Amino acid sequence: MAIIVNSSETTFHLCNGEISYLFAVLPNRQLGQLYFGKRIREREDFSYLIETRARPMSSCVFDTDKRFSMEHLRQEYPVFGTSDYRMPAVEVVQENGSRISELCYDGYRIEAGKPKLPGLPATYTEDGAEAETLVIMLRDKVSGLLAELSYTIFSEGGILARSVRFVNEGKKDLKLTTAMSLCLDLPDSDYEWMQFSGAWARERYPKLRKLEQGIQSVGSLRGNSSHNHNPFVILKRPGADESRGEAIGFSLVYSGNFLAQAEVDTYDTTRMLLGIHPAAFEWKLEPGETFQAPEAVMVYTDQGLNHLSQTFHRLYQKRLARGYWRDRPRPILINNWEATYFDFTEERLVEIAKTAQESGVELFVLDDGWFGKRSSEHAGLGDWIANPERLKHGITGLADRIEALGMKFGLWFEPEMVNRDSDLYREHPDWILQTPERHACHGRFQYVLDFSRKEVVDRIYDMMAKILSGAKVSYIKWDMNRSITECYSAALPADRQGEVYHRYILGVYDLYERLTSQFPHVLFESCASGGGRFDPGMLYYAPQGWTSDDSDAVERIKIQYGTSYCYPISGMGSHVSVTPNHQVNRNTPLYTRANAAYFGTFGYELDLNALTEEEQAEVKEQIAFMKENRGLFQFGVFYRLQSPFTHNSSAWMVVSQDKKKAIVGWYRTLNGINLPYTRIRLQGLDPDMEYQIQGDPASHYGDELMNLGLITTDTSSGQAEGEEKMCQDFESRLYILSAAGEGAQR
Ligand code: DGJ
Repeated sequence: MAIIVNSSETTFHLCNGEISYLFAVLPNRQLGQLYFGKRIREREDFSYLIETRARPMSSCVFDTDKRFSMEHLRQEYPVFGTSDYRMPAVEVVQENGSRISELCYDGYRIEAGKPKLPGLPATYTEDGAEAETLVIMLRDKVSGLLAELSYTIFSEGGILARSVRFVNEGKKDLKLTTAMSLCLDLPDSDYEWMQFSGAWARERYPKLRKLEQGIQSVGSLRGNSSHNHNPFVILKRPGADESRGEAIGFSLVYSGNFLAQAEVDTYDTTRMLLGIHPAAFEWKLEPGETFQAPEAVMVYTDQGLNHLSQTFHRLYQKRLARGYWRDRPRPILINNWEATYFDFTEERLVEIAKTAQESGVELFVLDDGWFGKRSSEHAGLGDWIANPERLKHGITGLADRIEALGMKFGLWFEPEMVNRDSDLYREHPDWILQTPERHACHGRFQYVLDFSRKEVVDRIYDMMAKILSGAKVSYIKWDMNRSITECYSAALPADRQGEVYHRYILGVYDLYERLTSQFPHVLFESCASGGGRFDPGMLYYAPQGWTSDDSDAVERIKIQYGTSYCYPISGMGSHVSVTPNHQVNRNTPLYTRANAAYFGTFGYELDLNALTEEEQAEVKEQIAFMKENRGLFQFGVFYRLQSPFTHNSSAWMVVSQDKKKAIVGWYRTLNGINLPYTRIRLQGLDPDMEYQIQGDPASHYGDELMNLGLITTDTSSGQAEGEEKMCQDFESRLYILSAAGEGAQR
């Protein structure tokens, strides 16, 4: 890893064994982007890459030169209106109303490791040798705006992490109206744009389209990163697939409004922007004030999408997630939500917990409904005090009873919300986000607390900390069940209302930071009606997130498959639920529900007492199996093998770091009759290692399994003979591979 500055201080080359990132100071002192891609050798002078040419109708910078126009140059952190007409990375409104600025190079510094971003989640290093950070100072003389661009290159992986800090060094107020975290101008547009979109209960479906001239974008203006679009996109070369080809992934470490946008100009260059959505953002900078934009992470690969995803997984698992639970296999939990909804008593919960404990479950999670007057969606949010009518011994007593059974106890909160029917709202009706003289819309009959205000966050912290200090709570599920509307804070002046969305998220991060540092052994799981805020920002505080409210196995395979493009398996909350499934009313075999949920944190979302004896016995086996293999599932190397979005059958696999163990998950949606022979080519094995597949007397070398493939042909319906198993709809199988001589795993 190196950051090389050439002798005239005009070219910067960040590189490691895999990538090079190059930019230069242009003749007008603004920064030009030169290259991001596979590692290239260093040279003293890369100026030949700055191509200029006199083009008719161009607006030009220098009085005596027809060639130099910002419109035709690839830039590093562009502004609008000084001969560039594309969407800018930054816009600052000055006191005279001007929006023009010129951010010119004014020095650099290099720091070992990676400095923290104050108040914001970000990737980190554990020692200075893991990464180096280059900080470039850009100054606009007229307005006094300083922009510090940070670039961190890690010693391993094709990763570049970027962020921007602004300082008003002038004497007059400034207003940032655009402050993107990343701009990358690419020399061509021969890319496919891959986004991860959906809605409640069908989050993060991959969508692919060819980049075209004009603007294509995804984003969120909902106050959370949203179910609808994820702050992660991939630009891939046509033909690049899971195992080969070039791609760049762009991920924003942020949980609020975002914009990810590619603009292809009519010369077919591509400008990629990623950051806080400018449409609902303004930030006032008084003289001396600073603004820190969130971190954006770019990953380049020339080895296909699985490699791209694995790079993100490793980074986000090891250097974004933090704390006690980061590297630990996650407890197998049971959550009462789908078992009881709001209809429970302490005794009923203990009954559920008891059977779960006997089956091997390690953690009992009490979901919504335990506090205030919460017996439906209409009341109670904000009153984080146990309801004595339901929990006669309070949270402390219930937690003790669960612990006495030999399990850990976990609890649901929705800290950012309030119902009108709550003591908190009656006491502080002005604590919600609402616009004066305007109607306030509700979502699920609840309102969003103004987390831009410290006193609001303090009050919620006090209530939560009291419960956590007084009871044996080992886990928290932090929910967020509506998006923001009428975003306005009663505590801020008119000219700072554009800051509320971002200040709100800063308040959420502040509460997370305080709770996770005060209670470092508590495992946090983020949630927002399932996957409405499933983003890297949350992963920094909560090492796992509830992936979706859809707990049906067939739907979950799609959701987890799409989610895996950026997020690690250890981050995906995934549970076995009852049939018929509560979201799609589908009946799937119990083993298929487990076979989907193993590729995640694993747990149950049902009352095991309601299962038959055979099913209960099956559950016991599932739990024992997961306990033995969760390290592999959650921390192995994950490969997507066949997509459920394009095939009736799909597959994925995990391989241990030493390649001696692997588990393949194979799933088929609808059964067929007299089907063709089928094989799946595995990945990531040691070609020279001999593997035993559980249940198969023959052994197979890694090169066979990766090139000839694993035979998955079965007796589909109506063909089974004698002892053969008759397959059904929603069939699934695990293939468990161990290096010959290492012993089978189950
Ligand atoms: C939405 C979550 O995603 C569910 O799992 C559950 O916790 C409910 N909220 C409770 O209101």
